[in-house]
Amino acid sequence: MQDLVQRIYGTGSRFHIGDIGWELASVPPERQAGWRIALWNDGDQDVAWGWTEGNGLLLVVDPARAEVAGEVLDWFREVVGPGQRVTSVLESETHLIDAIEKAGFTVENGRPYYTHHNISLDKLGTPVVPAGFTLRHVGADEVEKRAAVHRAAWSDVAPSKMTAEAMAAVMSTWPYRPELDWVVENSAGVFVASALIWLDEQHRAGLVEPVGCAPEYRRLGLGQAVNLGALHALKELGGVEARVCPRGDDGYPIPAKLYQSIGFRPGLRTVNYVAEGN
Ligand SMILES: CC(C)(COP(=O)(O)OP(=O)(O)OC[C@H]1O[C@@H](n2cnc3c(N)ncnc32)[C@H](O)[C@@H]1OP(=O)(O)O)[C@@H](O)C(=O)NCCC(=O)NCCS
Repeated sequence: MQDLVQRIYGTGSRFHIGDIGWELASVPPERQAGWRIALWNDGDQDVAWGWTEGNGLLLVVDPARAEVAGEVLDWFREVVGPGQRVTSVLESETHLIDAIEKAGFTVENGRPYYTHHNISLDKLGTPVVPAGFTLRHVGADEVEKRAAVHRAAWSDVAPSKMTAEAMAAVMSTWPYRPELDWVVENSAGVFVASALIWLDEQHRAGLVEPVGCAPEYRRLGLGQAVNLGALHALKELGGVEARVCPRGDDGYPIPAKLYQSIGFRPGLRTVNYVAEGN
């Protein structure tokens, strides 16, 4: 799945290899049990994949093999059965939009969507943390603390299911590297903010996913600092640009404000589709 995403990567493509690494590894086994994943190959080349959970589909199709999109959608209908089906694309993925509309889907407004945000690494601000805090990348052995800061940051939205086991899976997933996994530590040695970047060396492009700050430490500039720390590390490792994909709708606006405050600029957005019946 990552091979195909990397092969077709560009400004107009929805996913970065880091999206797939994070989504595959960070989810607890009981949720993974509900996934169905299928790949389409031509010889030794992957040309498409589909990934369903519940009645939803994520799909990636090589734009040069657009005709395969219809097969992925047929597979999705067979796996999910009759009833409502939902999917989404990046607005630039016209090869998918044609097939999705041909399969009877229509645009569904009003559901959450995501807006790609992009930054070039040539003029990054300097990360600053308040007195008493330390900014650094994690060590490969700090799995428990790394899982704990993720849980803390995400538990005011809904209880986070992140475990040390799931974080260990993330930290052993290609192309994770601890040098790009940044944290802010308080004076007691507790991690209170984090930002993970995944580097696609072939495209010299980073993906920031995920970012978080524990609720009691918010609005101190730690989110900015931990992102900038990770972005500078990305540049040192050869990256030239980075992407992050926060919600673009009004229902969850704060992360986009954080990223824009450090220089990310909004680009392409995702679009939701729905189909009913057979
Ligand atoms: C998003 C998040 C990481 C921000 O962390 P933070 O440490 O509070 O962010 P900072 O203090 O560095 O804020 C930087 C800028 O972001 C914007 N911002 C942050 N919180 C904001 C809020 N509650 N309201 C409006 N703007 C806000 C502001 O522009 C702020 O700059 P300012 O304080 O000078 O006005 C934090 O709210 C969080 O962990 N949320 C839950 C997890 C999450 O949604 N992660 C992002 C997923 S894409």
